[in-house]
Amino acid sequence: MLTSYDYSMAKLVDQAGIDVILVGDSASNVMAGNQTTLPITLDQMIYHGKSVVNAVQRALVVVDLPFGSYQGNSRKALSTAIRIMKETATDAVKLEGGSEVIESVERILSAGIPVMGHLGLMPQSINKFGTYSVRAKEEVEAEKLITDAKLLEEVGCFALVLEKIPAKLGEEVARALRIPVIGIGAGGVDGQVLVIHDMLGITQQFSPRFLRRYHNLADEIKGAVGHYITDVKSGDFPNEKEQY
Ligand code: KIV
Repeated sequence: MLTSYDYSMAKLVDQAGIDVILVGDSASNVMAGNQTTLPITLDQMIYHGKSVVNAVQRALVVVDLPFGSYQGNSRKALSTAIRIMKETATDAVKLEGGSEVIESVERILSAGIPVMGHLGLMPQSINKFGTYSVRAKEEVEAEKLITDAKLLEEVGCFALVLEKIPAKLGEEVARALRIPVIGIGAGGVDGQVLVIHDMLGITQQFSPRFLRRYHNLADEIKGAVGHYITDVKSGDFPNEKEQY
């Protein structure tokens, strides 16, 4: 699984053969430049979701429910999920949390909308955690995570994301569940997800241990833009064949 947020990138990611495209609320960070995922709105998630769905021919598309659109009110959660399904034509939605949001998960599922869970580090709860460091290193938190993972599977989630937890715990959860468990900063599980801007090396400041960069697009883009500026200033571009 990889994230995408726009038509052109999603088309390439889909053509490259990815199984699942996540329209993550990480769009708040990498597309809009916000410090956290909290500010992104439902309308903005729908815009990104629709742009991705327009491009995709084969991958499964999952759209994140944004912060404040499903917590504490299962009716609101259902209407959020229905708006996303109707206005983006995505295949499924994802939301963060376990027992505290289970009523919302169940209500969304009852409308026939597939739900992917998300446990471990949950960026929408950054103000509760206070840090983006590894979660569930202590036994009490690890036990709650296992219980929540089983609960999400039991009510009908079709897959689960585990973010930034010890590999040993990831392996234990993956062994205990039948649904696919997808890790980000979590080894020992069934699949992996990365933010596309991070793995392509577009983002430059973000270098957590779990991130493998498959390219250095930041340098390539800056090189190409610099080349263009030089060519326009020198009069080399456009040449005779490049004008009418
Ligand atoms: O928003 C996102 O990109 C995510 C992934 C990090 C799993 O939730």
